[in-house]
Parts: sequence; C-alpha cells; structure tokens
Amino acid sequence: MKKIMRARVFHFPLLLTIFMIFPQVLLVQSENDDFSRQPPRPIIRTQHDRSDSDPQQVHISLVGRDHMRVTWITDDKQAPSIVEYGTEKGKYDAKARGEHTEYTYFKYSSGKIHHTKIGPLEPSTTYFYRCGGSGPEFSFKTPPSTFPIEFAVVGDLGQTEWTASTLAHVDSEDYDVFLLPGDLSYANGQQPLWDSFGRLVEPYASRRPWMVTEGNHDIEIMIPDHPQGFTAYNSRWLMPYEESGSKSNLYYSFDVAGTHIIMLGSYTKFYVESPQYKWLESDLAQVNRKKTPWVLVLLHAPWYNTNTAHQGEGEIMRQTMEKLLYKARVDLVFAGHVHAYERFTRIYRNKHNPCGPVYITIGDGGNREGLALEYLEPASPLSLYREPSFGHGRLRILNETHAYWSWHRNNDADALVADTVWLESLSTSKTCQNTVDEEATTSFVNNEL
Ligand SMILES: *[C@@H]1O[C@H](CO)[C@@H](O)[C@H](O)[C@H]1NC(C)=O
Ligand SMILES: [Fe+2]
Repeated sequence: MKKIMRARVFHFPLLLTIFMIFPQVLLVQSENDDFSRQPPRPIIRTQHDRSDSDPQQVHISLVGRDHMRVTWITDDKQAPSIVEYGTEKGKYDAKARGEHTEYTYFKYSSGKIHHTKIGPLEPSTTYFYRCGGSGPEFSFKTPPSTFPIEFAVVGDLGQTEWTASTLAHVDSEDYDVFLLPGDLSYANGQQPLWDSFGRLVEPYASRRPWMVTEGNHDIEIMIPDHPQGFTAYNSRWLMPYEESGSKSNLYYSFDVAGTHIIMLGSYTKFYVESPQYKWLESDLAQVNRKKTPWVLVLLHAPWYNTNTAHQGEGEIMRQTMEKLLYKARVDLVFAGHVHAYERFTRIYRNKHNPCGPVYITIGDGGNREGLALEYLEPASPLSLYREPSFGHGRLRILNETHAYWSWHRNNDADALVADTVWLESLSTSKTCQNTVDEEATTSFVNNEL
C-alpha cells in the first residue's frame, strides 16, 4: 500500500518541498522574464564514461594543517577506499585507506562514496594520486604555508553553460583554494544531478581543494526519509568539521596560510544557545591573529543585500551573530544566494564602521534560475558596487596587512575584471585592535552613511 502511494505521488511532494523551502524561486524567475541581460543557459548533464570500478566525481578538501581528503564515487560497491600518492607521476610511495558511505533517496541509490585522508603533505607541492587502486591518475597542488595565497570565490554554482564558463575563467589563472558559499548542484532532489555536478567539477575540484558551505538548494528535506535534509550534501561534500570542534558538517572552520576561514550554516540553527552559535563563539575566541592575521567568514544568505531578491532572509542571523564577528574583527564576509555581485563598505549594525567586516555577495556562479536583476532604489551608500552578471571573485592575500579583491564578470568567452579593491587586515589596524568594545568605535563612525 505504502509503495503504491509513493509511486503515484512521485513528483508531488518533491515540488511541494522545494517551493515550501524556497518560494522565492518562483518569484525571482518571473521577475527576470522581461530582461535580456545574461539569460540563464541550459543545464549541462555530464555523463559517466568510465568503468564501474573507476573513480568518478573526484574532489579534494583540506583537512587540518597538512592533510587532504580525497572524495570519489564508484558504482562498484567492492571498490576499496584507498588512495595511492606521491610527488612523481605514476610513482606512488604512500598509500592511505579511508572510509565510505552511501545513501538512498526515493528510488535513487547512490554509488559507493569514498572519503580518504592523505598526508602529511608538503606545502606548495604537486602530488599525483590514484583512487581505489586503478583507473586514471589525478594530481593536485597543496596550498602554500605562508602568504601570498589566492582564493577563488564563487557561490550558487549550479551546472549550466554559465557554470562551465565560470569554472574555465577561474581555472585560466592559478589559484590555491576554491571557496563556495552554498548552493552547489541545484539538483533540487533529483539525485542524478548531484552525480552530474560531481563529474562537471572534477577537472577543477580534483586539482585544488574545494571548501564549501551549504545553501538552501542543498537542503532537500523529504518526509519521512530525510527529515533533516542535507543527505546528499553531507554524504558527498564532507568537510573538516570534526577537526574544528564542530559537531556538524554544516559549519566548521580551517586555517590555511595565515588565514582563518569560518564556514557558517544559514540553514541550521543559529540562535544564541544553539550549538552553532556556541561553536562560533569558541572558534573566534581561539583565533590567534599573529598566526592567522586574516579572518574570513562564508555563509549563504547575505546579511547585507540591496537586491530585491531574498530581501531580509539573512536578517535574523545577522541580528544574532553580527556582534560576534564584529568583536572578533572579522575582515570579510562572503555570501551567495542572491544571483548577482555586490560589494559593500565595512559595516556594523547597518552603519559604515571602519572596524566591521567588508560584505561581499558572490552568488553569480551560473545557476539555472538566472540572475537577480532588480535593486532597491535609491542605492544605499553602504553598497559600493552592484551588478547582476555571472562571474567569480578572487582574493589574493599578499601579506599580513594587504589583500587584493577582484571580481571577474563572464563576458561570454572572456572574463573581464570589473571591480577591484585593496583591503587591509583589521588585525594590524591599531584603532580597531585597541577598541574592542563596540561602544568605543561608534564615536568615529560616520553616521551619515
Ligand atoms: C604588503 O603588501 C603590500 C602590497 O604589495 C605592500 O605595499 C606592503 O609593503 C606589504 N607589507 C609588508 C609588511 O610586506
Ligand atoms: Fe540560494
């Protein structure tokens, strides 16, 4: 009886769940219909063309100071979770065995998802590796242990032809670590699209570590089997949460080359007594700005946003957590969700504040829904640059005091640098380090902004 009912209503609860979680999907699309600028492009379905035991959807992520987690999927459930690696092509002098998982979702059964931690690894070094004892060889470069370091930052990536251009543009210049503030595959419950996404990004994500946090499209709550959601996301995109004292894959932090990066979860509890809030408080308390002069935060739903899309969706989280970031002198906050690019000044509590973080919305990776084209008018003076185009950002941290941010718009085949700014770390600002009390800074805040 149960089986028959499920089969008959196959798409109904799926759609209902999707629209309940993000009704704005419908609104944004209808708003965009009148515009011709960078319309959405079709989904690319990346086919599986290897044998059952060959690794597919290979991607890597940083774990601790000098380890890398290699993740891949095999159709063959007998394939071992081993990674062989070394610094010479075809010569593997080290080997590690990892763990594996799998999941079901409606009628879909995932392949065997392998997670294998390798290391210790040397910084700024190319390693060659092979997964499961056979199949193609891959390689990656480890990030440097000191500045300079370059991050590619792209949210709301999806798997359209725009996604493919964005990834090609990111790849056209070297970088060290890929940061993704949520909304990965836009599978929206269609699990084979997670596999397709994994294959699309493999050429990039197998060569540089990809560090991600979750977006609303990654939730995929399904009653009764997946009441908590995130089944595909957590199974496939395991991040180093345990290493950072977090109890959830939905928020964590890591250090790389003098930078402390905090990945927050917009779609898991964040109220003052919540595990995430308490974890964030203790994580920030442990930051040593002498070791990591730069502190970055990534999350999905922006706290500051002058686009009409998703207005106010990050507001409760902002009101709850903004003070923690401000007191800790976080340098930059990246968000996604709004399918456009926007850069703000330094802000605290809706006012320009020289000791607050710079806020950047970078939800322009190439999702299938199209761009968020309408902005609130008149423009807020807090918003310094806003543009609804697909593209990606790059943060090059040169040393403990200086970083260079650039935003690269997708102009068809080319990437065009459209916005740049030099940033100075708050860790070396005497004014901000000496006035940790929030009241003290209000005296020199320009309240007219
Ligand atoms: C950091 O880099 C900036 C930009 O290149 C440079 O002007 C500055 O002198 C550097 N600071 C240190 C301490 O090297
Ligand atoms: Fe989103």
